[in-house]
Amino acid sequence: MLRHLLPVLALLGVAAPALAADGDAACLECHGDPAMTADLPGGGSVPLFVDGKQFQASVHAQQGMSCTDCHAGMTPEHATGELSVPTRHALSKKSSEVCASCHDQVAETFAKSVHGRAPENPDLPVCSECHDVHRTVDTAAARLALQTPLLCGNCHTDEGRMKKYGISTNVVDTYLADSHGMVTTFQRDGAPDQRARLGATCTDCHGVHDIRKTDDPGSRVIAANLLQTCQRCHEGAPPMFPQAWLSHWEPSPNRAPAVWAVLQFYRVMIPFMMGGLLLQIGLHVWRSARKKKP
Ligand code: HEC
Ligand code: HEC
Ligand code: HEC
Ligand code: HEC
Ligand code: HEC
Ligand code: HEC
Ligand code: HEC
Repeated sequence: MLRHLLPVLALLGVAAPALAADGDAACLECHGDPAMTADLPGGGSVPLFVDGKQFQASVHAQQGMSCTDCHAGMTPEHATGELSVPTRHALSKKSSEVCASCHDQVAETFAKSVHGRAPENPDLPVCSECHDVHRTVDTAAARLALQTPLLCGNCHTDEGRMKKYGISTNVVDTYLADSHGMVTTFQRDGAPDQRARLGATCTDCHGVHDIRKTDDPGSRVIAANLLQTCQRCHEGAPPMFPQAWLSHWEPSPNRAPAVWAVLQFYRVMIPFMMGGLLLQIGLHVWRSARKKKP
């Protein structure tokens, strides 16, 4: 669909690569300055730097798009010294509205998700919060998915933001302690460009643009759908499979008491053993030191 759209845009003279590059250069004359920022009316500031080299390598520039394909109607004369938007979120939201004109399916799905229902709510992500638009890379590579513990964690470990919605902030820590999280961290640090993923990331269980509340009947992680979600990778997993897993829960006397008891046992046992070992070595040293005396 999209691939057919660009030749049309090109015909209209909107996205002809040669023209695009010239137009981009005019924008980058100001925005290519790494130190460029603008003050927000409500306090604070936003960086206005766009790295031309990274932009050229981005998926959109590779498709022949230029700055004004997204920032429509923007001419260099906009530099009045005052931002047209009051907050960072408003800037992101305004600029992300254009995404729907090409990625209509994604935008439609997203609008129905738990994140997309209220785009004016600054607690919720818009497209550019997850996609670094000026250097969007190929999402089919594992790289973006591998970043999700950090990306989602930006908000989901933020106590102030999550409290309002009654959502737990230990979802990232519990994920990282799980074998899926460990393997993902390992791959992110070791082989980020490998296309196949070695473990499950946040979006493998929750979805990407279609994330629902966990008690929504359409959620991929609600009890009725959970086994199917696991079976995408754990082929032939039996019905009890999800129950044998801790999910985002930490072991406690109420949740997984056996796991909790074993953990407590080790917590006492390991210091006891190590202490005993050190004491024994110490006594041996002491004894042999005393023996040597005539
Ligand atoms: C003469 C320097 C200059 C040039 C050239 C320039 N800009 Fe800007 N731009 C600014 C300044 C300064 C701001 C901060 C807000 C303001 O002063 O209006 C800004 C703000 C922006 C913003 C964010 C805020 C908003 O109001 O939406 C976008 C997006 C933007 N410019 C895109 C572009 C594009 C695209 C081009 C090329 C067509 C371009 N700029 C060319 C100086 C420039
Ligand atoms: C694929 C669409 C797209 C293209 C192409 C694009 N931008 Fe943007 N731009 C956005 C979005 C979305 C934002 C909001 C980013 C955010 O939330 O931080 C943005 C934000 C900005 C800002 C505000 C500072 C910031 O990074 O948030 C400036 C300045 C800007 N763009 C300039 C440019 C220039 C110059 C080019 C061409 C070299 C360009 N843009 C190409 C979509 C695009
Ligand atoms: C003028 C049309 C157009 C606009 C506007 C646009 N895109 Fe794209 N986008 C494309 C095309 C064409 C591709 C490459 C298509 C492909 O490979 O499937 C693409 C690719 C992408 C990809 C990578 C897809 C992949 O398969 O790896 C992401 C992510 C993306 N766009 C996000 C955005 C976001 C976020 C915005 C809004 C800031 C946006 N796009 C605005 C046309 C557009
Ligand atoms: C909460 C984070 C998040 C938000 C918000 C988000 N995306 Fe994505 N998006 C992702 C991730 C992660 C992937 C990679 C999926 C994968 O693992 O293959 C992706 C993939 C994509 C792709 C390529 C694959 C596909 O599904 O076609 C496009 C295009 C895209 N996003 C566009 C958008 C647009 C447009 C918006 C706003 C309406 C948006 N995204 C909002 C996280 C997000
Ligand atoms: C292997 C599957 C799986 C992975 C991976 C996973 N989750 Fe979950 N997640 C679940 C399940 C199942 C639930 C429902 C837990 C319950 O209610 O018992 C859940 C619940 C949640 C909730 C709701 C918590 C609440 O308080 O209501 C959030 C938010 C969440 N996950 C975010 C994340 C994030 C962020 C990541 C990545 C860091 C992630 N999840 C990784 C399966 C997963
Ligand atoms: C910009 C902040 C932000 C980002 C980034 C973000 N979320 Fe959220 N998320 C929220 C907020 C706020 C809610 C609560 C929305 C509501 O209940 O109306 C939410 C809700 C959820 C829920 C539903 C929890 C419930 O109530 O059952 C899940 C699951 C979830 N997010 C997973 C993710 C995953 C996975 C990612 C990364 C791909 C992610 N989120 C990225 C802010 C964010
Ligand atoms: C995207 C694929 C994917 C999904 C979806 C997925 N897993 Fe996994 N899981 C893996 C891979 C790969 C491993 C082995 C490597 C590792 O430990 O991460 C694994 C390992 C495990 C392990 C550790 C024991 C073992 O066999 O090594 C458990 C337990 C587990 N998964 C439970 C689940 C449950 C429960 C679900 C559904 C809620 C689920 N997984 C969903 C890919 C996935």
